[in-house]
This record gives sequence, structure tokens and C-alpha cells, in this order.
Amino acid sequence: MKRHFSFPITDPCQTSPFCVFLCFPWLLIRKITTENTEFHRNALPWPRFHFNIQSSDSRWLFWGLALDYAETARSTLCYKQLHFSLGGCVSNDLPLLGFSYDANDPDVLYRLGLHAALNGATENAAALFQRAVELDPSDPAKFNSWGNQLLALKRWNEARSAFSAGLKLAPNHVELLSNLALVHKVQNRLDEAQTCLDHALLQNPDFLPARDQRDFLYKDAVPTWHFSMMNDSQRNAAYEKAIQKAVRPDSVVLEIGTGSGLLAMMAARAGAKHVYTAEMNPLIAAVAQEIIQQNGYADRITVLAKKSTELQIGVDLPEPADVLVTETFDAGFLGEGAVPSIAHARGHLLKPDAQLIPCAGSVFANLLESQKLWEECAVSQVSGFDLSAFNRFQEHISVQYVERFPHRRLSRDTELFHFDFTGYPIQPEAKRVEIPVIADGVVHQILYWFRLFLDSETVLDTNIEDESCWRIALQILNPPLPVQAGSTQTLIAQHNTEFIKLRLAL
Ligand SMILES: C[S@@+](CC[C@H](N)C(=O)[O-])C[C@H]1O[C@@H](n2cnc3c(N)ncnc32)[C@H](O)[C@@H]1O
Repeated sequence: MKRHFSFPITDPCQTSPFCVFLCFPWLLIRKITTENTEFHRNALPWPRFHFNIQSSDSRWLFWGLALDYAETARSTLCYKQLHFSLGGCVSNDLPLLGFSYDANDPDVLYRLGLHAALNGATENAAALFQRAVELDPSDPAKFNSWGNQLLALKRWNEARSAFSAGLKLAPNHVELLSNLALVHKVQNRLDEAQTCLDHALLQNPDFLPARDQRDFLYKDAVPTWHFSMMNDSQRNAAYEKAIQKAVRPDSVVLEIGTGSGLLAMMAARAGAKHVYTAEMNPLIAAVAQEIIQQNGYADRITVLAKKSTELQIGVDLPEPADVLVTETFDAGFLGEGAVPSIAHARGHLLKPDAQLIPCAGSVFANLLESQKLWEECAVSQVSGFDLSAFNRFQEHISVQYVERFPHRRLSRDTELFHFDFTGYPIQPEAKRVEIPVIADGVVHQILYWFRLFLDSETVLDTNIEDESCWRIALQILNPPLPVQAGSTQTLIAQHNTEFIKLRLAL
């Protein structure tokens, strides 16, 4: 039996009211009648429905209705709004069906929308819900359903308008609040998302969707490495030493990247006149403000919940700063955007002779042998099978705690790039770097780590032995490369000021 049906009329939506008779395959009807017990109870062995259709796309409507009829009929609504024309089957194999409904009844449109949504006809569901709210703009549930379809279609702004319109009618509607929070989160308005979720949970502390969302809002917003970073006592001591040396009682300090507020509080404790600290993640900025308040520095530290490149003198800071502090360096050194944000601060937010902490950084490479670590990132022969095609999914750069795996260095640390934050604007670079091999072995990874020069005497290293909060960035070689002591390997190293790329020259 074919699982399709054909209509005798091609475009029924042109005429309204309209009566359509459709031929459905036997199987479809059987599904409807056998699943619908209430239907049976009402003695409709082979129904014929009259259905007035006014829709922009009739095809789905027939299809959706046919599939969902049983369920619709189970609800009392359809008895009110749908008019069944009883009897009328032509034969047991090919009954004739027709539907009739009032295309201007918002409740019917709403029900149809629910069924379309259930069947994944999202566009049509959205159109039906939209028409339903146009006809009945007083029902928050309709706005919620409409917004949900718009969410599924990633039409974020329209979804936001739908949920907001629903909330105007029912400001404490927990589903609307929770859904609006979702749009805010997608559009990166985390603080507004939080406000919605807090409000929803105030209405109903057990409303799980809002509770889950709030948990994830924080978790997604703040990567877990923040904790090991805050607890890295070597890092903290090095920064505090450099800050204490640089800060004077009349210093205005600008920090880029507040985090918990730790370095800003160090600057305030060192005696700065005032510290301005920019944090682009509004959730983190709000928590930093709370921490700074709790620690008694609220009068000397201003948290600016903005990306540093949006700050302006006269608006966010009253005057250019004397000292810049930033710790915006990821394992790959450039990935948090330190180079452009320091350049921007120098151009717009600092005095010409301002001290920069750090003032420079260097990135070093080394050839590493670590089969175990390679197996964390790639695959070859397993149980006598060649699985190497799976490496299509492999990351080419990975960040790892190398010290946790057996490993051997096959070269000395070799400097790839030196970044002087106090000099001319840093430009993208590409170079060939010769790396002398010091031991026979197999290179599985090229690792790179960095040294921060916080000032002329304080440095902070992220090499394997330093056990810092930074993991080591690794470029995985596939296949691994056998090398001999005394030879040299040539690396092609490139950076575009935002990330570094390495490869071995063949
Ligand atoms: C690595 S954490 C450092 C936090 C804190 N300064 C510390 O050392 O403990 C960097 C923080 O800076 C923020 N950030 C990075 N670049 C920024 C920028 N250009 N403007 C404002 N915040 C930035 C990130 O959201 C993150 O919270």
C-alpha cells in the first residue's frame, strides 16, 4: 500500500468557505479510526468531514489533519468547532473524507498549530499560531506557542517579540519568562536572561525548565578553568608583585578582564587612587561587583560591564590610566584577544608613558614524544583494524595537562615569537624556525608554551614543569614523525595576532 494520498482539488485555499473531499489510503483511515476510541464511541466508522480551508499552504494542512485527526477528535474541542459530516464512505478501501472548520476561530487555529508543531511542520505551526494571536491577542498561551515555533525556526527577534507580548498579558507566566530567557541567552544578553529566570523561579521555585536553564546559564557563561586560574598561587603572586611595584598612591589603574576581581583588588590594595576594570561577560561582571563590595573595595574599584574596546575616556573613565593590568592569555597565548585589546587601550585609554603589566610575552615550541597523549587525540590500528579514517574528526590543536602523560622532549625549547606590547603595533607574522633535535624518537606533537614578562624582573612561565593553571597547547602530528638526534626540523610558524598556527616543513 502506498503511503500517500491524492486530492481531487489542487488548490482549495483559493475558495472560502470551501468543502473538500479527499481520498485517503486505507491504512491512513484505519490508523485514524482504530486509534480514536472516542471517535468510535460516537459511532463514526467511516467519517466524512467537511473542512473549510483557508491557509497559505493547503498541502500540509490536509496531511497534518489526516494524521492528527484521531488525536484532535479525542479532545472535546473538535466537537465544538469541527463539523463532522457523518457516514459517507464510498467503500471500505477508499472512503471519502471532507473537513469543515471556521478559519477565523483562533482556538481551532491554535489546535491545528499544536498538531502541526507536533508533526514537525514548524513553519506552518508558526503561521497558524500567528493567525491565532492576531485573532485573539488576549491569550498568553498562544503567544507562548507562537514564540516556541519561532525559536525552533531560529527567528530570534520575532520569538522575543512574541514572548514579550505574552508577558505583557501575564507578567508572571513562568513558561513565557523561561522561553524569553532562552532568546536572551542566545542573543548574548545574559543579564536579562538571568532576570527572567529569577522572576520565573520566584513565581514557581519548582519550575524545572527555568531552574535547569539558570544552572546552565552560569555554567556555559564561565568556563571551569576560572577556578584553577584563581587558585594558581604562582600566577597570583607574580601579578601581585608586579602590581605593587607599578602602582603609586596617585595611580589610576585600568584592568582588562575583571574575572573575580582579584587583580583589581590587588591594585586597590597596592594603594591605587582608583581602579577601573572591564569585564565583557555581564554575569561575571555582576559577581565581581559583589565580591569587590564584600571585600570592602567598592569605593576604589569601578567594574565596567563592557568589552575594553568599547570603553571611552570621559564616559567610562574620567582620565587616561597610568597602569594597565591584564591577564587575558589562553593556552595558545593569543586566543583571548590580548594583542588587539592592549593595542586599543594604548591608543585610547592610557597615558603615553603608562606601565603595562605584562609588558611582553614570548611563545616557545618543543618537539614532544608521547604516544599516550597522541592516543588522546588520534587513532590508527586497533585490534587489527585500521581506524585512521576516523581522524577526520581529530582536533589539530589540543590543550592538555602534558605532565599527566609519559612524555619525552626531543628538542630544546625554541622561541617562535616575541610580542612587545610596549613597542610598535604588533603585526601578523609568518616565519620558518629551525628546531635542533636532541634525541632519537618519534615526534607525536609540537607543543608550545609561553612566558609572560610582567615587568623587567617578574616572569611567569607555562612550561610543562611549571604546573601552572594553563594547560599546554599541542599541535598533533598525524602520522607521527621519526627524528634523529643532530638533525633539524623546520617549523613554519604563523600568527595573525589572534591565533598561532604551526606546521612542520616537509
Ligand atoms: C583569564 S580571565 C582573568 C580574570 C582575572 N583578571 C584574574 O586574573 O583572575 C579573563 C577575563 O577577562 C574577560 N575578558 C577578556 N577579554 C576582555 C576584554 N577585551 N574586555 C573585557 N573583558 C575581557 C573574560 O571574560 C574573562 O572573564
